[in-house]
Amino acid sequence: MHWGKRYLMCPPDYFDVTYAINPWMDADVPVDRDLATRQWTTLKTALESAGATVKVLPAQPELPDMVFTANHGVVANGQFVPARLAHEQRQPESDHAIRWMEQHAFGITPVTTPGTHEGAGDCLPWRRELIAGYGQRSDRRSWEDTAAKTGWTIHPIRLTDPRFYHIDLVLCPLDDDHAIVAPTGVAPDDLPLLLELIAQPLVLTPREELAFMMNSVVVGSTVVMPACSNRVRDRLSEWGFSVVVVDVSEFIKAGGAVRCLTLSLDVELDTRSGLGA
Ligand code: ARG
Repeated sequence: MHWGKRYLMCPPDYFDVTYAINPWMDADVPVDRDLATRQWTTLKTALESAGATVKVLPAQPELPDMVFTANHGVVANGQFVPARLAHEQRQPESDHAIRWMEQHAFGITPVTTPGTHEGAGDCLPWRRELIAGYGQRSDRRSWEDTAAKTGWTIHPIRLTDPRFYHIDLVLCPLDDDHAIVAPTGVAPDDLPLLLELIAQPLVLTPREELAFMMNSVVVGSTVVMPACSNRVRDRLSEWGFSVVVVDVSEFIKAGGAVRCLTLSLDVELDTRSGLGA
């Protein structure tokens, strides 16, 4: 794998659910921040034990969703394309992410189309290209602009279910051939397109999807997951992967799990064409 060994995480110092911008969030359900902190630390340790390096972006007061670093932008080839977050509650997160990237020598490539895009949460590496979600949080025009500005090939996939509002809630690439696919969130017309790209998909059942099994992180041959069924574990092990489960129940109250809490910093892509098929 040409990526998956360097991640950016942000501690849950101010994590909370104070507004509802997806169907998982309910501001009346309390968050246990001490438990969230233990879960976050366990996740960071699990990634490091699997062989990853984790950098930490300091948390900021009044930005309860800033823990979900996947949404801060897309990182590839040492370039950072800052997100244009859809909800105003999260928009102030961007300046902090941009500053961190500048301080850590990433080039900044702004996307200036009017449309929104929610970073790597909606844009995942597949081989040396990207698969991006649109229709929920991200606008297809943003991915067109990103492809035009960077030369990266981006395959846009339309998402239709408000519960599975980012591409990392429908897809988890594992290596150049294998990926976990959670089909419910994908527009019926686009599901064949997605499955055509993935040589060997592990297609989740609705129950497995609701447990966020697609929102996982692969580090070498270890898949760090928020939950795992025996069926999924068996298939992954046939493919040579071992599973580490980290409970992130507090973060699921905000509609995010393992993948959303990380941003890959080491993705390498080809730079050739524009938008993929
Ligand atoms: N509460 C956050 C939001 O709705 C959760 C983000 C989850 N991130 C992800 N990459 N799926 O924006």
